[in-house]
Amino acid sequence: MVDHLPGHKGRYILLNRGENFRTIWLHPDDDQTVQIIDQRRLPHEYTVSDLRSYRDGITAIAEMLVRGAPLIGATAAWSLYLAALEARGQRDAAAFIQTAADELAASRPTAVNLRWALDRVMHRLHTAGPDADRVALTRAEAEAICDEDVEISLGIGRHGRALIEEISKRKNGATVNVLTHCNAGSLATINWGTATAPIYLAQQAGIDVHVWVDETRPRNQGSQLTAWELAESGVPHTLIVDNAGGHLMQHGMVDICITGTDRTTRSGDVANKIGTYLKALAAADNNVPFYVALPSTTIDWDISDGVKDIPIEERDSREVSHIWGRSGSELLEVVTVGERTPISNFAFDVTPARLITGLITEHGVCAATEQGLSSLFPEQAKR
Ligand code: MRU
Repeated sequence: MVDHLPGHKGRYILLNRGENFRTIWLHPDDDQTVQIIDQRRLPHEYTVSDLRSYRDGITAIAEMLVRGAPLIGATAAWSLYLAALEARGQRDAAAFIQTAADELAASRPTAVNLRWALDRVMHRLHTAGPDADRVALTRAEAEAICDEDVEISLGIGRHGRALIEEISKRKNGATVNVLTHCNAGSLATINWGTATAPIYLAQQAGIDVHVWVDETRPRNQGSQLTAWELAESGVPHTLIVDNAGGHLMQHGMVDICITGTDRTTRSGDVANKIGTYLKALAAADNNVPFYVALPSTTIDWDISDGVKDIPIEERDSREVSHIWGRSGSELLEVVTVGERTPISNFAFDVTPARLITGLITEHGVCAATEQGLSSLFPEQAKR
């Protein structure tokens, strides 16, 4: 795994497991610059990008240099730190930061972590009062969000590992085959991921685990990101086209599906990358357990009906009509569709709770129901 050890000053080293890996961090020599990995260029190039203003943060989220619900939230939090730096000395600093928060909130619609992180940082500012050191407060909050996210992922990992362990025992130690969709890995969080955390921890515990990686058209987060980070971590995996999952399940080649989510309703409906719903349908038809791994920051306690209430992002048709990749040493984009063909590009779909075997959270595994979630998060459920 790529490792950003303090003191490495932007350089990175490859490790088998990235205890110190981070997807977003403060520049080691310049605390007015936030650094991220430009995920659009993986797996072909590992490029670090600098964010120097909150508008850089908006671009990074909207154009998907960073993506994945928890990392989107963390980037929004760090963007408010950049906004606080920009607002320093301004007479209407508080209004400037509020505008930044409003613009950031509109950068991507589906992942609720974005709103959650912005609300958390703005609440901290509001309760601190007008004379507070806004730069120090936003920085402390962004750092806390990132540190907590790592712990949350490890919690998900421990609870999810137990599920994989159980299957491994049932199979007398034979390989446990996990199918995942999109990238809900280290790259989508701060480290460890949500859907991948149980896999990484299972591997560390010596469990024989193999991952079927859905390619995840149109942006190929599976083939370009999940496959990359599993390879970096030495986890056995195989890339499949998005339509292969059903076939594999019919032939007993999938023991468990684990995906991430961008927003989970209080009743357990789950929005995730387009195509997740079809995997859940195939899993139900073949009695394959279908789990969704999520941090509590991804639960939207205000809504119950995922299909009706979760805004589904529609993205640029170029994501469908064009494919990006490497030819020899050149990185290029090619068009695959005739010019007269209209294109639709819904980025997410909703998997109804009834198709989900269980939700893996940092507090434990529960049924995808309001009672299940409330039992693990009684305080938040009171809202
Ligand atoms: O469009 P993306 O790449 O941001 O979509 C990401 C996903 O769908 C992930 O599965 C989800 O955010 C969970 S990340 C832990």
